[in-house]
Amino acid sequence: MVDFTLTDEQKDLRELAHDFAEKDIRKVAWEYDKDSTWPDDIIKKAWEVGLMNTHVPEEYGGPGLDYLSGALIEEELSWGCSGIATSLGANGLAGAPLLVAASEETKQKYLGMLTEEPKLASFCLTEPDAGSDVSGMRTNAVKKGDKYVINGSKCFITNGSYADWYTVYAKTDKDAGHRGISCFVVDRELDGVTVDKKEDKLGQRASNTATISFNDVEIPEANLVGEENKGFKIAMMTLDRTRPGVAGMATGIAQAAFEFARDYSKERVQFGVPIAMHQAIQFMIADMATKIEASRLLTWQSAALLDQGKRNTLASSHAKRFAADSCMEIATDAGQVYGGYGFIKEYPVEKLMRDAKIMQLYEGTSQIQRLVIAREVLMPRQVEAPEPATA
Ligand code: CAA
Repeated sequence: MVDFTLTDEQKDLRELAHDFAEKDIRKVAWEYDKDSTWPDDIIKKAWEVGLMNTHVPEEYGGPGLDYLSGALIEEELSWGCSGIATSLGANGLAGAPLLVAASEETKQKYLGMLTEEPKLASFCLTEPDAGSDVSGMRTNAVKKGDKYVINGSKCFITNGSYADWYTVYAKTDKDAGHRGISCFVVDRELDGVTVDKKEDKLGQRASNTATISFNDVEIPEANLVGEENKGFKIAMMTLDRTRPGVAGMATGIAQAAFEFARDYSKERVQFGVPIAMHQAIQFMIADMATKIEASRLLTWQSAALLDQGKRNTLASSHAKRFAADSCMEIATDAGQVYGGYGFIKEYPVEKLMRDAKIMQLYEGTSQIQRLVIAREVLMPRQVEAPEPATA
């Protein structure tokens, strides 16, 4: 039997996140977007009420929430503002490789740092010349005694300017392709770590996106996450865990755009009746509603599989691809319902159209999701399932 009923705890968390989005995020969202304001105050408050580090297990100070709860929270926060939600959620991406593969000491130290204080961490995978093609990275780590020395540059790093530590992927065997990549935790305060460039973005302008460079950065060998040369799989298993949350975020933007368009269509009068009475508009609203339902169901499924300890690679790519593309379509259609006003900054949907675009790009483009889906359905392979729930 398929049961789509949320538990009481999941309903409470969803309500908590929605209230927070309504009272603390929405009221500043358009202003923070305009000025590209770093949402420091909101991060501190979200941390206090327990809306950050949601998957960190209790032994490291977190709430150890299931992935479905995480996706519900992401949807609601993103309904408030996806730029601010991205800032709040990036610790989850940075911490996931630790949950996948790090030693007990590393988890205690670095995940504990995030739960003891409202601190931030970033996930450093992408490079200027290696985005979708992860194996093409140039950042390298050379073992010298009991240390690794890291050199290279990572771009498009969410929260990069404000993070206290980074999960960094680097080549430890330059001739071994994806089998020569390792994952490390790098402290921001180390000599040679620099924050280079803050991006000026089209959308999600309240989130911070920076380039981080590593010049002869010496890190203790204990900061290797998992085994040497196993970093590529750690990255892939990380993205399997985080893409349901991104799909949830895309659904949140879509829901917001839908609500604005629905309400506007009932107020705006043309040809003597509210435009909601015209079938052309009704069909757009109907398609938006169907796409949101489908996005939400795919998101829940991809998260629920993780919670059951099952492999969710295919499901998370289905969810991320469909929710992201639907989000872009819905935001654009909401703009269409607003007509000329949809193009004006004074009206809400213009921001949502700009914010929606990144959903098709970060954590794997829609084309990369299709590539994963095609490989999974054409030539499925056996990969070990993740540990259940919070592991
Ligand atoms: N789980 C476990 N193992 C996996 C896996 C998964 N989901 N997917 C692949 N693997 C394993 C394969 O089994 C294979 O193992 P073997 O070594 O045993 O053969 C190995 O990994 C290599 O797999 P592929 O041959 O499929 O690798 P590929 O080079 O063709 O790349 C890819 C596959 C899907 C294109 C991958 O490179 C990818 O996901 N690219 C997109 C990267 C991405 O999402 N970047 C986003 C950065 S984060 C971000 O955006 C956040 C931010 O802060 C802005």
